[in-house]
Amino acid sequence: MKVLIVGSGAREHALAWRLGQSPSITGMWVANGNGGTGRIATNLDISPEDVDGVVGAAQSLQIDLVVVGPEVPLSLGLVNRLDALGIPSFGPTRAAAQIESSKAFALEVMQAAGVPCPDFNVFHEQGAALDFLSLHRDPVVIKADGLAAGKGVYLCRTPEEATAAVRACMDQRVFGDAGNTVVIQEYLSGPEVSIFAFCDGEHLSTLAAACDYKRLKDGNEGPNTGGMGSFAPPGFWTAGMEERLRITVMEPVIREMSERGTPYRGILYAGLMLTEAGPKVLEFNCRLGDPEAQVVLPLLAGDPLEIMLACHEGRLSKVPVRWRADNYVGVVMASGGYPAAYETGFEIVGLDDADEEAQNTMIFHAGTRSSIQDRPGRVTTSGGRVLTVVGRGDSLAEARDRAYHRVRRIDFRGAYYRTDIAAMESIEGELAANPAKASG
Ligand code: AMP
Ligand code: GLY
Repeated sequence: MKVLIVGSGAREHALAWRLGQSPSITGMWVANGNGGTGRIATNLDISPEDVDGVVGAAQSLQIDLVVVGPEVPLSLGLVNRLDALGIPSFGPTRAAAQIESSKAFALEVMQAAGVPCPDFNVFHEQGAALDFLSLHRDPVVIKADGLAAGKGVYLCRTPEEATAAVRACMDQRVFGDAGNTVVIQEYLSGPEVSIFAFCDGEHLSTLAAACDYKRLKDGNEGPNTGGMGSFAPPGFWTAGMEERLRITVMEPVIREMSERGTPYRGILYAGLMLTEAGPKVLEFNCRLGDPEAQVVLPLLAGDPLEIMLACHEGRLSKVPVRWRADNYVGVVMASGGYPAAYETGFEIVGLDDADEEAQNTMIFHAGTRSSIQDRPGRVTTSGGRVLTVVGRGDSLAEARDRAYHRVRRIDFRGAYYRTDIAAMESIEGELAANPAKASG
């Protein structure tokens, strides 16, 4: 079977790596991929957001399954276009992807399905939003309704901050049309966890759980980023918790989406906050998380291609999805200066510098380029987040030691990484329910 993966990050490299282990794979392409995917698949010079380009490539290459990594092509209707041509894909349709592309839609689905979420109000007009704020002086969270690359969330401690956030969305239009509608939510606190399920429209798999780190610096300081590290599973994750969240969060949403005539296929991702009043859903995403995918895909047992095809064909109940008992820690290596301005084009050394410990590590590329012309095998930096280095262990501590051991053997000019990913203090810090986190 020939597979086309859409996306260019470390999540997509992890998808290519895991799908490449399927015995049925005969060819693998990535649009547009990176220096890492180019080593195990064929990169296509097509942007993940170029729906026409991706559909054209899937047709001409006679692809058997298109696997979509990021949310933007899903919200642009890539899966609808592929469905119309009879090309199988893994990911939700445009209507089902609204679970991520409209926060107001997601909250309405949660309310209808009885899924625990923060109290919220939706506003289509600035005047009404400001009137509401003048009557509610408590801390609130203000969110642009649409896709804003993770930047559309304001945690507002004071009424002045809240007013400014509403104006930024609706008056200054800093997120364009994505801020035409805003959601004002109750400000919750507690540790966060991401949960993931494979879905076929009617059924869903058992869940996997992971935690990510959004802030740039150790101790959850500094600006927000696309994610600086991740680990799976969290120490508090038990079979009982899995079952409870499957029954109270994921199944009701799958049922509701099916009843609305927009069945959900692909990965359903819920971002939860574990509050004193129990788990509440902050957001749904219509895809795997990044950098969570880099620690969740290694946990997946069985044939990923078979599972994804079963999701497409509505027969997931016949294909058991199992998660390994291992632990994985992922450390992101970034370009110095990220998430602000940074330079690229620096050679990355140590990628193949493997000792016996390396057997328990993996390197997933994001902002890298592999140049064939000047020196085969030479890899240079080309983006903000450059690599996710993943370690496996029988315990989280062992996985963490191995990941950092490998990180220290890799270098490029200005390389930056957090040193506290999955460290006991950082996990306990999360569990201390410090809500002083910004959007992500
Ligand atoms: P979202 O994109 O909706 O998940 O929000 C991004 C981040 O903002 C979350 O990971 C939380 O850290 C924070 N956040 C979102 N909603 C809330 C809320 N209602 N209360 C407190 N923090 C929140
Ligand atoms: N790790 C958060 C996200 O992928 O949205």
